[in-house]
Amino acid sequence: MNHGAWCWYRAVTLLRLAGHRATALDMAGCGVHPARVDEVLTFEDYSRPLLDALDALPPGEKVVLVAHSHGGYSVALAVERFPEKVAAAVFVTASMPAVGRAMAATSDELLAYVGDDFFMDSQDFEQRNPNISGRPFIFGPEFMAQKVYNMSPPEDLNLGLMLIRPANSFTTNNSKAVVMRDENLLTAGRYGSARRVYVTVEDDHAIPVGFQHRMIAESPAVEVEGIAAGGADHMVMISRAEELAELLVRIAGGVDMVQ
Ligand SMILES: *[C@@H]1O[C@H](CO)[C@@H](O)[C@H](O)[C@H]1NC(C)=O
Ligand SMILES: *[C@@H]1O[C@H](CO)[C@@H](O)[C@H](O)[C@H]1NC(C)=O
Repeated sequence: MNHGAWCWYRAVTLLRLAGHRATALDMAGCGVHPARVDEVLTFEDYSRPLLDALDALPPGEKVVLVAHSHGGYSVALAVERFPEKVAAAVFVTASMPAVGRAMAATSDELLAYVGDDFFMDSQDFEQRNPNISGRPFIFGPEFMAQKVYNMSPPEDLNLGLMLIRPANSFTTNNSKAVVMRDENLLTAGRYGSARRVYVTVEDDHAIPVGFQHRMIAESPAVEVEGIAAGGADHMVMISRAEELAELLVRIAGGVDMVQ
């Protein structure tokens, strides 16, 4: 949520040094993507840069998709649409929705799990476009410092504070949340049959490890890898870039990567 391709700068560098073709993508309205938050109408529009990248792959080419945090929903949607182009979907302390349920059910459960007040000084903005589900949201500086970048270098926290942008989660339960509230979106034959790997981060304060395990339990057949406690926070691609890159290389086993 709120972040862009930029937060992968360390991990992408390491993956390229290891000889992989690694690409980090801005979802619509994030990072340096030109759309304003009120121009991105649906979750599908938000995820369009990823869907377009997969659509543009030459026939027969497969990639490893790496999702982080709220990006798990974009990757799930992409796997459902293009299962034949995905060698593996890796969920790095990401939201991982389950087959046969609306993606927003996972988000509802996370919010219930962490409870009220969890997001500290994070803020909702007025929704300027009545055709968008819910309200734009941005992490607050205290939330970023204590629960997102708590083990990352202070320079990276400050970079994050300068670069995050408000985004809609498209999860509010109303008739405009069509993609996130569609119970039939994720199917056993497509998303459910793809190779999926969950990378747990034991000491993540933003998506608690108990909740990571709950999502894993709801999706049998998912492979599980872990980043041990000690030095890793939610921004594991920053706080533990080397360990994460090595793990991704091992998971990919020679395939190209898109985040
Ligand atoms: C919302 O959607 C309606 C119906 O499609 C359209 O007429 C209206 O211009 C839209 N509003 C905005 C702010 O985009
Ligand atoms: C969403 O809203 C509809 C209609 O108000 C309701 O029937 C449904 O139970 C709600 N779903 C969730 C997950 O809150």
